[in-house]
Amino acid sequence: MNRRTFLATTFIGSVTAGISSAAAAAERYFPVKVDQTLFETINRVKVPGKKSPLEMSHAPVITAPKSVKAGETFTVEVSIGENVHPMGPAHWIEYIELAIGNEPAGRIEFRSRGFMKPKATFTVALPKEMAPSGKATLVAFQRCNLHGLWESTLDITVL
Ligand SMILES: [Fe+2]
Repeated sequence: MNRRTFLATTFIGSVTAGISSAAAAAERYFPVKVDQTLFETINRVKVPGKKSPLEMSHAPVITAPKSVKAGETFTVEVSIGENVHPMGPAHWIEYIELAIGNEPAGRIEFRSRGFMKPKATFTVALPKEMAPSGKATLVAFQRCNLHGLWESTLDITVL
């Protein structure tokens, strides 16, 4: 083996050893296998009415009146998800956010406590200027520590 081959082999060997020891450490501290592709995008329900088990427990479910009067107070309830997501020490919902269209409105953060439920209620009163077309889009986000960021929307009429 010449010097060049020796150095290349040694370098590749130490990089491989470094990667495998980092992976082993990650598995020790995070023993649950995680699908990394869920962290590359904002996840949404792909086919409404035919949700996968992951979508059932992660897509925010928004409950709000179909129609509200401008300026009148109403509540928006956001639940994660249709099958309520667990809140254990290794797997939990970190926060729930609400936006009105592109306008951030509020955020509720959670700790990984089993006695908590991942649900939040926001109190809103939309001025007419926020719904010039007579429609407003409620946007709910949530982040699961193991399954990434999820978004759902609900259009309501503002009279
Ligand atoms: Fe999750």
